[in-house]
Amino acid sequence: LRLGGDMLSAQFDTILISEVKINRDERIRKEIRREAVASLAESISRVGLLHPIVLRRDSVLIAGETRLTACKSLGWTHIPFQYFDNIEPDQLLSVELEENVKRSDLTWQEQCDALAKYHALKLRTEEGWTQEKTAEALGMSVGHVTNHLNVAKELASGNKRVGSALKLSTAIGVARRGIERKKADQLATINLSLSDDEDDGALAEDTVPLETPILNVDFVDWAETYSGAPFNLIHCDFPYGINADEFAQGAAKSFGGYDDSPETYWKLVDALLKNRYGLMGQSAHIIFWFSMQHYGETLARLQKHFWVDPYPLVWQKSDNRGVIPDPNRGPRRIYETAFLASHGDRKIISAKSNAFAAPTSRLGEHMSEKNVEALKHFMGMVADGGTRLLDPTCGSGSALRAGRDLGVASVLGLEINPEFCEMAARAWRDA
Ligand SMILES: C[S@@+](CC[C@H](N)C(=O)[O-])C[C@H]1O[C@@H](n2cnc3c(N)ncnc32)[C@H](O)[C@@H]1O
Repeated sequence: LRLGGDMLSAQFDTILISEVKINRDERIRKEIRREAVASLAESISRVGLLHPIVLRRDSVLIAGETRLTACKSLGWTHIPFQYFDNIEPDQLLSVELEENVKRSDLTWQEQCDALAKYHALKLRTEEGWTQEKTAEALGMSVGHVTNHLNVAKELASGNKRVGSALKLSTAIGVARRGIERKKADQLATINLSLSDDEDDGALAEDTVPLETPILNVDFVDWAETYSGAPFNLIHCDFPYGINADEFAQGAAKSFGGYDDSPETYWKLVDALLKNRYGLMGQSAHIIFWFSMQHYGETLARLQKHFWVDPYPLVWQKSDNRGVIPDPNRGPRRIYETAFLASHGDRKIISAKSNAFAAPTSRLGEHMSEKNVEALKHFMGMVADGGTRLLDPTCGSGSALRAGRDLGVASVLGLEINPEFCEMAARAWRDA
């Protein structure tokens, strides 16, 4: 008899491994993962076999094929077992769930659910149960169990993004990012309430409900005094600082121009950076549109305080509209660029392509409207039902409408020009 010395944690009957019968037709799960066997064998050689395999009276295996294979690989000749009809009802359920976790005819959602139920049952019925023990029992790594449990939790709470993932690996990524974002939000709220405890009402007061999202203010002044709830997505489309109000083939002013001097641009950038904690709490995303003329310095300034993806997002104007600054030397410029940045290493929700083609649009009076579909594509990477969106220079309000379409929790747009404010409010009502 070789059981690996005193490797058994409890007393069970043993059977010659060669006598165990595996009925392939009855066993729905056909595949045994080699890594699972190796990791289980390693654990068994360290701490022993914690769970006997389960057999029918005629020695046909009902549960524990991975364990059997692992013990065989360690050179064991015998293995502890229990008869199926001797098992307590609780244990029976656990055997069934244990099998479900691995059945290849179940969806990944059903497998996750089975794993979560198995773990919960064990926590309830066996003292000192841990995720490590679930991992051992199911022949998985502990990380895998944690990931399954996280996904199952999100599924149970109705998280549609997780539920609609095609593969478990995608769902795990979505759930992990969601959990990190929630933690970051909780931290931001705690920090804010600690620093703001004299002014109880301030948390909610300044967050503007979805019906009235546009204020006619100067962002630079407003940012200095803002003390409301932090935003976790800032869509920045400042004037680019390239004097577009003066060139643009003379048409800019008649299409709703605004001051586009470098001074205005850098003043707005400074206001954002200086007031970042008041505006964003501990963590937020920023989508920051910029002109390639200021690429280097803008990136350097943002990188001092934020994580910045150096590959900009690109909106390609599919109607080919753009300017030709110098027809003798260069092409027509038909794309616009934005940085995706994050404050406090906030995670995205789902990865998207970093370029998107869509035509220019013009509500009428504003010279640099962004296409709402393009904004939805890019903002969809970071916006969900927990998003509080701020657009500090909202112009015609296209980012606010994109946010609404994406189902964000709240939006706030600021705009210095009262006519643009009205235009944005009209578009908000009519869209
Ligand atoms: C590039 S445009 C924004 C376009 C907008 N994303 C859209 O899709 O319609 C910049 C806007 O910033 C506004 N603006 C300039 N300085 C401002 C300030 N200090 N505070 C608030 N808005 C400002 C301008 O009036 C202009 O409408």
